[in-house]
Amino acid sequence: MENLKNQKNYYITTPIFYPNTNLHIGHSYTTVAADTIAKYKKMRGYNVKFMTGTDEHGQKIEKSAKDAGQPPIEYINTVVDGIIELWKHLNIDYDHFWRTTDPKHIEAVQKIFEELFKKGEIYKGVYEDFYCTPCETFFTELQAKDSKCPDCGREVEKVKEDAYFFRLSKYTNMLIEHIENNPDFIMPKTRQNEMINNFLKPGLEDLCVSRTSFKWGVPVSFDTDHVVYVWVDALTNYITLLGYTSQDNDLYKQFWPADLQIMGKEIMRFHTIIWPAILMALNEPLPKQVFGHGWLLMGSEKMSKSKGNVVDPIVLVERYGVDAIRYFLMREVAFGSDGNFTNEALISRINFDLANDLGNLLSRTVAMIEKYFDSHIPVEHCPTAYDEPIKELATSTVAIFEENMDKLMFSDALSTLWVFVRRTNKYIDETTPWLLAKDENKRDELANVMYVLSESLRIIAVLITPIMQNTTKEIFMQLNITDSALQTWDSAKAFGLLPKDVRVTKGSVIFPRIDKVKELKELEELLHKTVSATQPTTTQKTVEDTKPEITIEDFAKIELKVGKIIACELVKKSDRLLKSQVQIGEEVRQIVSGIAKYYEPSEMVGRQVIVVANLKPVKLRGEISQGMILAADDGSDLGIVTVDKEMNGAEVR
Ligand code: ME8
Ligand code: MG
Repeated sequence: MENLKNQKNYYITTPIFYPNTNLHIGHSYTTVAADTIAKYKKMRGYNVKFMTGTDEHGQKIEKSAKDAGQPPIEYINTVVDGIIELWKHLNIDYDHFWRTTDPKHIEAVQKIFEELFKKGEIYKGVYEDFYCTPCETFFTELQAKDSKCPDCGREVEKVKEDAYFFRLSKYTNMLIEHIENNPDFIMPKTRQNEMINNFLKPGLEDLCVSRTSFKWGVPVSFDTDHVVYVWVDALTNYITLLGYTSQDNDLYKQFWPADLQIMGKEIMRFHTIIWPAILMALNEPLPKQVFGHGWLLMGSEKMSKSKGNVVDPIVLVERYGVDAIRYFLMREVAFGSDGNFTNEALISRINFDLANDLGNLLSRTVAMIEKYFDSHIPVEHCPTAYDEPIKELATSTVAIFEENMDKLMFSDALSTLWVFVRRTNKYIDETTPWLLAKDENKRDELANVMYVLSESLRIIAVLITPIMQNTTKEIFMQLNITDSALQTWDSAKAFGLLPKDVRVTKGSVIFPRIDKVKELKELEELLHKTVSATQPTTTQKTVEDTKPEITIEDFAKIELKVGKIIACELVKKSDRLLKSQVQIGEEVRQIVSGIAKYYEPSEMVGRQVIVVANLKPVKLRGEISQGMILAADDGSDLGIVTVDKEMNGAEVR
């Protein structure tokens, strides 16, 4: 490791996420990739700054909050908590989580806007054209054919409002020149041509950079009827985070320009045209590289929740472990290309690459050392004829792995490494330790075979650290590798650093094999459960609609109590929801239920009801609901479940 003073800085960013939806496995893709690079660069000795965050303003977020019946910031806070939780689950070690509602960001955006206005880069006019709210993008009539968004296909709206404009058109040629002179600026290469041919060559128009028809944004400081266009607000986050425009701008001086900004291909246009033009207008340097990865598809469409695969990353992490998910994301699809996400492909990767190849290599090695040497390889070794090819392959594997990682070719890096993993398994078959063990004269040879296997595993464990750090730790644990000098990146380049007398401690199976048929069936059931929980049920229930068998212990997990409704009213702006105050013993709880079609609020008061008392609280239309009132539902009518004696607070079993 170089000493700190000579360390090179490395600034890497993900896009900031819209906090208006549960993130699916597609969103995790961007962040896992960025985190993998950040961890890799740290191991290579860079002083890394890795940022991510949330993009919290704009018409779309304002609308989502309104639909949820909450003030925007309250609504956003809940979603942001979920996003931070997700990154924890995925072992994402960002250095900064930046939110565009942070007052420091807001102030900086205002200053940037003022500065551009003063310089004449921004001027006032009237915007009269189309807007796609889900994409937060302006379109001309020509682009928005049949009033449909050319990006997402949804309906665009006609907008006419006073607005400020940024002189984007003036940067057309400068951008073309920059892209042509800096062949690494836009990656992969195919996206360079896309940007030049589809957007720059036809010529850019000035960009509308303020809105007046809604309020949820950064106010233009000198004309407060306007809020700054959300993409200008969002893009500048990459520098406001570093203190740009503030007194305290040391980080900006140290880390800008960014070394790498990665994102999905659909937002490359904003990052390779609008963003660099803003930086040019501010007289600031452009990021060194902008990389647009492909989409995770389900079928042929960009992922969305309803297509029949479990894509909730938390569910996947809980079922298979974070390392399996990270491995799959980085291995399955070439970074840059689109690829399919299927539960089936995920299970195959786990079974073949992780359980069969890597898991077996570790468990066989540890089990043999346990069995033949009582968990401790002796110091005396005698090389076998099979060693050289393994050592050579180890060295070339590290070199190729590095080369691929430097080019963000994660899938190639991992497939190269797995050739080595499988080759090491083959070494066991070649050297036949079980035969060596039968011959007292072959103890030194057997010790050597065990050593080569352990050392190979150490090198594999080092290389997978950026992708699967838990597995790395587990391998080090089982091989008792505690010396940090044996865990550094460079230590993988030398075969034979491991001391000769290895000790092992048997641990758990790192990747248990999955019964694919059974698992796919369970996933299918899980999916139906989550889909039906989030959709109003309108279909006729039939007796065939049965659920899998449960035990009495499963049932005992549900806490059912008798309560009495002491007050009830309709939830504002909802024709479906009633909000009841329910007395349960000493306690009064608020419970929201979708029963307004069947009961008047006044009819509810005084009723005894059965409450699911240990249900996790949720917010419905902005109202907290602490439990659920049981009701029978046959699809066309609904009846509240009750008990035939007064017994408030009693348990139902
Ligand atoms: O675009 N496959 O945020 P976002 C791969 N707020 N990547 C996917 C994906 C999929 N199916 N679905 C989403 C925004 N992503 C803006 C960014 S930056 C100044 C503002 C990726 O929440 C997507 O490509 O819609 C992007 O990289 C990230 O998730 C966030 O998307
Ligand atoms: Mg998006």
